Amino acid sequence: MSYLLTFIENHLSKIILAFALVTIACSEEEDDLKSVDPDPDEALYYLPVVVHVLHQGEPVGEGPNLSTERIQRQIEILNEDFRRKEGTRGFNNHPDGGDTKIEFVLAKQDPNGQPTSGIVRTNISLFDVPVLGYSQNNYAQYSYWNSTQYINIWTTPLDESISCLVLGLSTGPETDLPGTHLLAIPEPNDAEGIIIPWMHFGESTIDCHARFGRTLTHEMGHYLGLLHPWAGLDCEFNDYCDDTPAVDDFVWGRTPFVGCAGDMIMIGNYMNYSDDEIMNIFTNDQISRMHYVLDHHAGRHALVSSPGLK
Ligand code: ARG
Ligand code: ZN
Repeated sequence: MSYLLTFIENHLSKIILAFALVTIACSEEEDDLKSVDPDPDEALYYLPVVVHVLHQGEPVGEGPNLSTERIQRQIEILNEDFRRKEGTRGFNNHPDGGDTKIEFVLAKQDPNGQPTSGIVRTNISLFDVPVLGYSQNNYAQYSYWNSTQYINIWTTPLDESISCLVLGLSTGPETDLPGTHLLAIPEPNDAEGIIIPWMHFGESTIDCHARFGRTLTHEMGHYLGLLHPWAGLDCEFNDYCDDTPAVDDFVWGRTPFVGCAGDMIMIGNYMNYSDDEIMNIFTNDQISRMHYVLDHHAGRHALVSSPGLK
C-alpha cells in the first residue's frame, strides 16, 4: 500500500497529464459529433471593401464609369473564388484546394458613419494633382479610405489600347513570413490597396486572357500576403507553400508544364498569370498564409472588426 502511495506521489504529474490528455481527446470527439450540423458562417473572416471608380466624366455604365451591377458581380466572383463555391468557375475538387473562409463585403458604412453602397465614383478630370504614375499614391489623391478599416480598390480609366498588357497591382502586408520582401510593401505614409484597370474589373467581352474578373482574385491574394508560385524565380525558394508545385518560371496561358520537381505545375492557381477562364484554386498552404496575415498583421487584422461591415 505505502509502495503504491509513493508510486502515485512520484508520478502524480504524469498521471494528471495522462488524465488531461484523455479528457482533451474526448472533448475533440464531442466536437466531431457536434459538427454534424455545423454553422457554415462560424469561422469566416469578413473583410470590407470600397471600390473607388475613377472616371473622366462618362455617364454611369459607360467605359470606366462602371455600372453598379458589374461592380457587384465582380465582388460576387471574388467570393465564388475565395469560398470555392460549387457550381461556379471558382469551384475545384483538387486534394490540395480549399475554401479560404474569407468573404468580402462592399462597405455598408463610410468613414463618417454614413450608409454607403461601398462604391465611390470620382471624376478625376476635375482634379489638379501631381502625376505619381501607376501607383496607389497616385489614385489615393482622388479617393482613399483608412486602410485599417477598408480594403481600397481603385478602378482606373486606363486607355483601352493597353488592355490586357497592364493588369492589376497590389500592395502587400509586412509580416515575418518568408518571402515578404518580394511583395510591394508600402513605405510608412504610402497608400495601400489594389489597382485594377476598368476593363479588367468584372466580366467583359474584352478579347484577352483577363476577362472573367480573376485579376481581382489574384491581387487580393497579394494583398493578403501570397506570392507568385515562381516568386524569386528559384526552385528552392519560391512561394513558401509546399502544396503549390515548385516552378522557377512565369506561368502563363492554360497549358501545364513540368516544374522543378519533375511534377506538373498547378496551371489553375490564382497566383499565376494563367488565363482567367481556367483559374480555380487556392491551396491549403496558401490559405494558411492568408490566415496568418489576417491574424498577425495589425492593419489587416483590424479589418475583421471594421465599422464598415455594419
Ligand atoms: N500581372 C498582375 C500581377 O502580377 C496580374 C495578373 C492577373 N492574371 C489574370 N489572369 N487575371 O499582379
Ligand atoms: Zn501578381
